[in-house]
Amino acid sequence: MSDSLLERAADEFRRQYGIPAAFCVRAPGRVNLLGEHTDYNGLPVLPMAIDRCIAIAARPRDGRRVRAVGLDWGHEIESFELAPAIPKHPQGHWMNYIKAGMQGILAKLCPDEREGMTGCDMVIAGNIPAEAGLSSSSALVVASAMTLLHVHHRTVGRLTLAEWMAEAEWYVGTRGGGMDQAVCLLGQPDHALQIDFFPLRAQPVSWPKEYAVVLCDSGVRAKKSESALRAYNFRSAECRLAARLLNQALARNGWESQFQRLGDLLRPPFHFSYTEIRDLAESALRDTYRYSELVQALGEESRVIEILRDCSIPGDPGDSGPRFHCGKRYRHVAREALRVVKSRELLDRGEMEAFGELMLEGHASARDDFEISCPPLDQLVRIAMESGAVGARLTGAGFGGCTVNVVRRDQVKEFLAAVRSHPGLPPSITHPGMIFPVNAAPAAAYYPIS
Ligand code: GLA
Repeated sequence: MSDSLLERAADEFRRQYGIPAAFCVRAPGRVNLLGEHTDYNGLPVLPMAIDRCIAIAARPRDGRRVRAVGLDWGHEIESFELAPAIPKHPQGHWMNYIKAGMQGILAKLCPDEREGMTGCDMVIAGNIPAEAGLSSSSALVVASAMTLLHVHHRTVGRLTLAEWMAEAEWYVGTRGGGMDQAVCLLGQPDHALQIDFFPLRAQPVSWPKEYAVVLCDSGVRAKKSESALRAYNFRSAECRLAARLLNQALARNGWESQFQRLGDLLRPPFHFSYTEIRDLAESALRDTYRYSELVQALGEESRVIEILRDCSIPGDPGDSGPRFHCGKRYRHVAREALRVVKSRELLDRGEMEAFGELMLEGHASARDDFEISCPPLDQLVRIAMESGAVGARLTGAGFGGCTVNVVRRDQVKEFLAAVRSHPGLPPSITHPGMIFPVNAAPAAAYYPIS
């Protein structure tokens, strides 16, 4: 693990504030092996915490001000006051992730406790490529929240904190699920994690040591704060609308109960299996709906508008606006959940060739049904397979960022050399910083200042 990162943060703290930091927090990024866009649908994911992290060196201060220096974002001191509703920095600013984490803690405290909360000084160092689908933002949210908790000698159970942080991150405008915060807080060395939602549960899954995980960065920046944020929220709205449509199909078949998220169908009173969920999602929905068709199918325009508004999509898009790909989106989500469950069994049995095939299926489905890939990611997947990977796919929210590749450990050198020298890739991608192996890393933790 990158102890140099902790040292960098601590050294810079002393330089910036003229006194030593009191403690450090380190929070890992993650790579998702399988289960894309399933989390907010209440279905499982299979990520791994990685040895690329955010490190914060911090020290309590009097008063409610929080001061922060981000070493990767210039060395200026930025600051804000702790408050129940903290005003935002401009959209996309890194300070918003610190505010998200801290406001997320304040939101859960009783008013008296909230009143007594004092701030801190911080320096942030990191080595997770930003906007590359590796969850640098959630690592910063979690690390900031842990900093505030430590300043006040508060402990919160990890599952609870993961749930708080998933909600807290909505502050930045993405209606994300809970995968990133959970794996950041619960990851383990040498293990992936199967995470289930509502309620949040996490089970470590041993990663076979003969296989390495290699990331290839496409260089396409999935800027969560701008167009990718809109596209992400739109997917989330399409899934919610699909749930409404499926509820109607179930009602026609005599079901009186309603469900909110596709994953609710696993539980009482439904008790569907993953295969039944897949079959239902595939048979009961059309691929695509116009706005007027949705309104007609759901009976009330206000319901559609409410869902769109809840996913930060303003107004009535009308029929000249985008189509709603409810059937395609749910086909991906339901099949992807089945892949997570199968892949976990394959990992337990060490059947990595079959695991790799599921990764490729996951990529095709993310590309064709969920439509979150882009040509550079598709190209990287193809090149990885030609270069000896057993499996490859895009990872994270999509629209750019990295691919995740599983490669036999004794073939990593050849794999790296083959991808880096591939004539089809531009030099901006083939340099070593863009194609690199990662290891499963421990969860976020506190460290003393040495
Ligand atoms: C982002 C979100 C996660 C998850 C992934 C897609 O990383 O933060 O909650 O939805 O996208 O799987």
